[in-house]
Amino acid sequence: MIHLDHTRTDSFLNEETWNRLTPRVVAAHEALLNESGAGSEWLGWRRILMDPNDALLEEITRASTRIRADADVLVCIGIGGSYLGAKAIIEALASNFPLASEEQVAASSSTPEILFVGHHLSGAYLRELLEYLEGRSVFAIVVSKSGTTLEPAIAFRFVRQWMESRFDDTANRIIVITDPESGALNAMADEKDYSRFVIPRDIGGRFSVLSPAGLLAISVAGVDIRSLFYGAVAMLSELTDSEGNMALSYAGIRHYLLNEGYTTEVLAHFEPRLAGFSSWWQQLFGESEGKNHNGVFPTTAAYSTDLHSIGQYLQDGRRNLFETFLIVSEEEEVTIPPDPGDLDGLNYLSGQSTSSVNESAFQGTSRAHEEGGVPNMTFRLDVLSEENLGRCIYLFQHAVAVGGYLLGVNPFDQPGVEAYKKEMFSLLRRP
Ligand code: PA5
Repeated sequence: MIHLDHTRTDSFLNEETWNRLTPRVVAAHEALLNESGAGSEWLGWRRILMDPNDALLEEITRASTRIRADADVLVCIGIGGSYLGAKAIIEALASNFPLASEEQVAASSSTPEILFVGHHLSGAYLRELLEYLEGRSVFAIVVSKSGTTLEPAIAFRFVRQWMESRFDDTANRIIVITDPESGALNAMADEKDYSRFVIPRDIGGRFSVLSPAGLLAISVAGVDIRSLFYGAVAMLSELTDSEGNMALSYAGIRHYLLNEGYTTEVLAHFEPRLAGFSSWWQQLFGESEGKNHNGVFPTTAAYSTDLHSIGQYLQDGRRNLFETFLIVSEEEEVTIPPDPGDLDGLNYLSGQSTSSVNESAFQGTSRAHEEGGVPNMTFRLDVLSEENLGRCIYLFQHAVAVGGYLLGVNPFDQPGVEAYKKEMFSLLRRP
């Protein structure tokens, strides 16, 4: 279950202005449901949930079982929407120690180690990666809708050539996930006989986590993709009605606050496993809304860690910020032990769980930030589960679509991303 508490935004909202905005929020929601808004040819992320393809989920699970049986390491190659969703869910659910390294998701013994590569251009990283893979049974998934994105294409060339020089059955070890027809990866998969999954035409990268683009790697990590997918299906159905609709409240409040000068939103969590999910959220909102020199700037914070770095700014810096907390209620069985002598003075906490201390840190932060002029709202998940994360994925996708329509933009394109590529390719003299 997920619940939205927005009471700590109430004192920042003027009732009359809010009442004027409400019908616009409902109209944006209806445009999404009726497929009459800008970019409605990109609503495949809703269509796959309205008509679930169970056979595809089974096919993905079968492919993942084959990889799990034989791989020591799974290399997932992709950038932006072609890796952030998988990383978000794997980090949240599959790893007991997600902070071991930035790139690496350590996994249980029956699960291959999963590495996300091809999302930057570091030569040092590529060299170290190939050294690290030496002597291991390696499988690779390459995800690129266009098949032409430079970062994953370069990484794939290195990994593919390395695999071809080490294994006799490279064709069985590489799986391509791309556009149904076009792009370099399809030609290569034909030529080299790689197996293939498609990203449907009508689903853009940052909306693709519940397509094979995200689900295959997630399934290899041992996550139950059916529960994840059907969590999103349940949320789609819950968010059909505009009454009591969390996505609409969230989208409406964000839009209201933006118009009042709160131009930056901080998505903050108190659970390190949600760092990847926050990055997925950041791309979803940044690429969907940041157009026409407008939109909320989305950024993320990991509390309580970051309260000791940017906490001062949040409490007392420029007042253009609002916060959205992503909180998990679930109790962890970690109890603070008593200490003879109490030299650290912590015995007043002994017997309490670390979760209840964390909850107090959250409650205190939320209250202090509201008092300091930072409106904040909270999404609370009862547990960190496949189903709840599936729900969260759809909830935020629905909200960002409505948010884009409120801004008068097409939430499903990203023309601005092309500008740097144009300059870079001209410097690289791409033919
Ligand atoms: O959301 C998007 O569309 C982008 O972030 C893409 O996912 C990203 O640029 C990667 O593109 P591709 O999958 O074509 O390599």
